[in-house]
Amino acid sequence: MKIAILKERASGETRVAATPETVKKFAALGCSVAVEAGAGVAASVDDAAYAEAGASVGTAAATIKDADIVLGIQAPDMKLLMGAKPGAWVAALFDPFTKRDVVDAYAAAGFEALSMEFMPRITRAQSMDVLSSQSNLAGYKAVLAAADAYGRAFPMMMTAAGTVQAARAFIMGVGVAGLQAIATARRLGAQVSATDVRSATKEQIQSLGAKPIFVENVAGIEGEGSGGYATEMSEEYQKAQAELVSSHIAKQDIVITTALIPGRAAPRLITDAQIATMKPGSVIFDLAVAQGGNVEGSKPDEVVVKHGVKIIGYANTPAALPADASALFARNHYNFLSAFWDKEQGKPVLDEEIGNAIRLTQGGKVVNERLQGA
Ligand code: NAI
Repeated sequence: MKIAILKERASGETRVAATPETVKKFAALGCSVAVEAGAGVAASVDDAAYAEAGASVGTAAATIKDADIVLGIQAPDMKLLMGAKPGAWVAALFDPFTKRDVVDAYAAAGFEALSMEFMPRITRAQSMDVLSSQSNLAGYKAVLAAADAYGRAFPMMMTAAGTVQAARAFIMGVGVAGLQAIATARRLGAQVSATDVRSATKEQIQSLGAKPIFVENVAGIEGEGSGGYATEMSEEYQKAQAELVSSHIAKQDIVITTALIPGRAAPRLITDAQIATMKPGSVIFDLAVAQGGNVEGSKPDEVVVKHGVKIIGYANTPAALPADASALFARNHYNFLSAFWDKEQGKPVLDEEIGNAIRLTQGGKVVNERLQGA
């Protein structure tokens, strides 16, 4: 079984889908691993480290030749896959709802596309969940980036020259990224509040020492929501949420937004009129900027200044922590394939629950239920 790791080619992508640690683990399963030269450079892994771990390091063509499985961060361009075995598996982020043409091209070429972002949110798949591992780092980085852009300190400081007030940070959307953002902002000494549409997050916010700010008069999503995901909220809820945010946001110095809805554009949580009520020098980090943005006016990889408020958002936040993001993504890949390893056949055999959830293409067709009619 040959596993191929190509250098990521998407602009701004710094991560790599395998590390020397996972190369060794795959070798222990009996696989040969080929890594394209330079694939790990941006994540601080040099070719020698891969070779030492047992990988063969070479050109893209040599790497892909006769590969059974290709592991990626973002799905590689079809041209790079020529030379892989017919029907080879490609496990990576496919962004299937927005890049349907790529999914169709994989189907036409006969590859089996495995979309890592479609990993179901079930307990046994937690260690394979790339959205979780990457969001966690993104939540951390968002707070650091906001702190860096903020012209004041986060913690309260009592100095001989007078007192510096603690920053007030508000986290909107308390999934994996939001929880890490709360914890990070607290560690830096900010006074933190947070909100979500799922009622289960209220206790989680409190347990991290932050204040929950919730719409009380209109029902939100009970408990965790479906599979941990939110859905689009009713107009009535959105109106109540907008009122709540308006009254709260004017007092905030730092706002981190993380709200996402699978398969849809990110919900708009902050309008320009609300930004206008914030103090000059406040900072908003929009973690959803690549999915359309939670904040009016936010632009990927730009610092937009509106009403004296800096609005930041990276197109690819986990890529700002390439070494850790790669290490976790690579482990997610390994945990996934090794969990299904069939020793007798010497290859992974997926079960129905996870296989059907993540498989986009098979036998020349688009087979994923979530893409039917899309
Ligand atoms: P996500 O990235 O889909 O969304 C981020 C957050 O935004 C969510 O908490 C969502 O409820 C919130 N949100 C959506 N619309 C909103 C709105 N209009 N206003 C305010 N907030 C809004 O979520 P994420 O981070 O992937 O995780 C959500 C849940 O799934 C968590 O409870 C997590 O523990 C669970 N999970 C479980 C996994 C497993 O069991 N394998 C793996 C990953 C997450």
